[in-house]
Amino acid sequence: MSGRPRLIVDCDPGHDDALALVLADVRADLVGITTVGGNAPLIDVTRNALIVSQVYGIDAPVHVGSARPLVAEPRNALEIHGTHGLAGPVLPALERTVASDAAVEWIIETTRADEGIWLVPIGPMTNIAQVLRLAPDVADRIAGVSFMGGSGGVGNHGPVSEFNALVDPEALHVVLTSPIAEVRMAGLDLTHQFVVDDALERDLRAIGDVGGTFAADMIASYLEAMVGRSGRRQGGLHDPCAVLAVTDPDVITSTRRHVGVELRGELTRGMTVVDQRAGDRATNVAHGHTLDHAAARRIMLDAVAARADVTGGGS
Ligand code: RIB
Ligand code: CA
Repeated sequence: MSGRPRLIVDCDPGHDDALALVLADVRADLVGITTVGGNAPLIDVTRNALIVSQVYGIDAPVHVGSARPLVAEPRNALEIHGTHGLAGPVLPALERTVASDAAVEWIIETTRADEGIWLVPIGPMTNIAQVLRLAPDVADRIAGVSFMGGSGGVGNHGPVSEFNALVDPEALHVVLTSPIAEVRMAGLDLTHQFVVDDALERDLRAIGDVGGTFAADMIASYLEAMVGRSGRRQGGLHDPCAVLAVTDPDVITSTRRHVGVELRGELTRGMTVVDQRAGDRATNVAHGHTLDHAAARRIMLDAVAARADVTGGGS
């Protein structure tokens, strides 16, 4: 046993998901990867998870999860991540295959067999909600949930709604109202502090080799999308923050808060309501609010550098 945290990352790659997977595999024991429809349709995010695993030498099995939210109609973010969810880099011919089409069942089986695994959802929470509904006992067997989603401030897909929470707010509600003792939230108010800009692309490209170039090309594409959305070549590196909250908790400062998610509001559906009032109140989440950006950025760059040339292809 390595003593490193054991993670299952549930994702919808997605540029920032891709970097979160590299970080998870370098900084923790990545037990498995599960996919969920989100940034792109399930078939695309699953292919992307396999490609990222191949490019960065990640051996964790990939299990296919939910194609659509619990209740809502599916929605994607193709305008950000591209037509198939991983615009920018030249994608290699796919050599990997999925381990199963039953991510929810696999998570249940794995967390029942091996206590103390962290669930790290960085896409819509559909798979995690289904796990908790089918196997409530899992809540006491996992180390916790560290998720990227919601916001203690502004949204990104609407004034107050963050994408992952907006795609499946019912699923997020299941997690936020579950008995899981340790739930860590990396919302936009935290993840926007992990700045994606030309300097990050430059530093990734300077790593060189296949992995450095692949990451830089993803960031370049992401920055183009940010210009299209906001007119600025800057964004937040969202998903790696949920991994760092487990692997490198000292880079994030959090406060115990009560967090709920709006399910019915015409203007506010998918909004996470973080109760930041003082006072002795029931809490359900460690709300991450301050990031040590320099430290997080160094850890991220070092993780990409550690996997830049696993294919031996060099560039
Ligand atoms: O709002 C940011 C989140 O939505 C990230 O997880 C990104 O990958 C997208 O899924
Ligand atoms: Ca994501």
